Amino acid sequence: MADSEAAEMRNADYWDGRYSNEDDPATKEWHVGPDKLEGYLEENIYPRWPQGTTPKIVQLGSGASSVPFEMYSRGYTDQTCVEFSAAVIAQMAPKNPAIRWLPHDVRNMPEIESNSFDFAFDKATFYALCAWGPTHLLKSIPPVIVEDTAAYSREVFRILKPGGVFVCINIFEPRYVNHLLKVEGTNWTDLHTPMALTPAGWAVTRAYGLVKGPIEPTDSEAAAAA
Ligand SMILES: C[S@@+](CC[C@H](N)C(=O)[O-])C[C@H]1O[C@@H](n2cnc3c(N)ncnc32)[C@H](O)[C@@H]1O
Repeated sequence: MADSEAAEMRNADYWDGRYSNEDDPATKEWHVGPDKLEGYLEENIYPRWPQGTTPKIVQLGSGASSVPFEMYSRGYTDQTCVEFSAAVIAQMAPKNPAIRWLPHDVRNMPEIESNSFDFAFDKATFYALCAWGPTHLLKSIPPVIVEDTAAYSREVFRILKPGGVFVCINIFEPRYVNHLLKVEGTNWTDLHTPMALTPAGWAVTRAYGLVKGPIEPTDSEAAAAA
């Protein structure tokens, strides 16, 4: 990808253009699909909300991903997808109108109340916010990325309930991701150390799991401890 194109990834118009071309690879999954995510989510995330419970889930920059639909089919029916590309919302919303589709910018979501979600999921949206010219692999970080990712992290922190979980999936190394997400105005606790979802290579996809404030034990952990 050319550096100038990487910078464009921060703009809604750029994404509208890509989603309007059905031959574009953007219309597929980014980084990893539900198959590679499944084991990670089953082991680390879903036990917090066992079958029969309905966590409030926000999908941040859901794009053309099938992840919301996969989660819905496993019983997680209370979902909100926040996307600033009107083009992709127009394509995806008819596939499941029971999901709320909000045309908002994840850096600023005033329409969403504080402390309202149990689980926030991001796959490659933090990545899109970080894409910037020659530094899109974060070898050095321009101020605009530091500001945007901090605003994003504070917004996700705000809309999660205390104890809520933020999973952020991207191709960046922990030394960069941690300081861009753990910013003033947040109090993230690591749910786990970053986990590789793809084999070692030039860009390993990792899952970062963060909790708003202290970690609450799952029901089964609490029962085991009692
Ligand atoms: C790299 S794609 C990932 C799409 C999808 N999550 C996936 O894993 O396939 C990034 C998505 O985030 C959306 N996006 C990027 N920046 C955003 C922002 N500031 N607010 C809302 N959506 C944004 C884009 O429209 C695009 O759909």
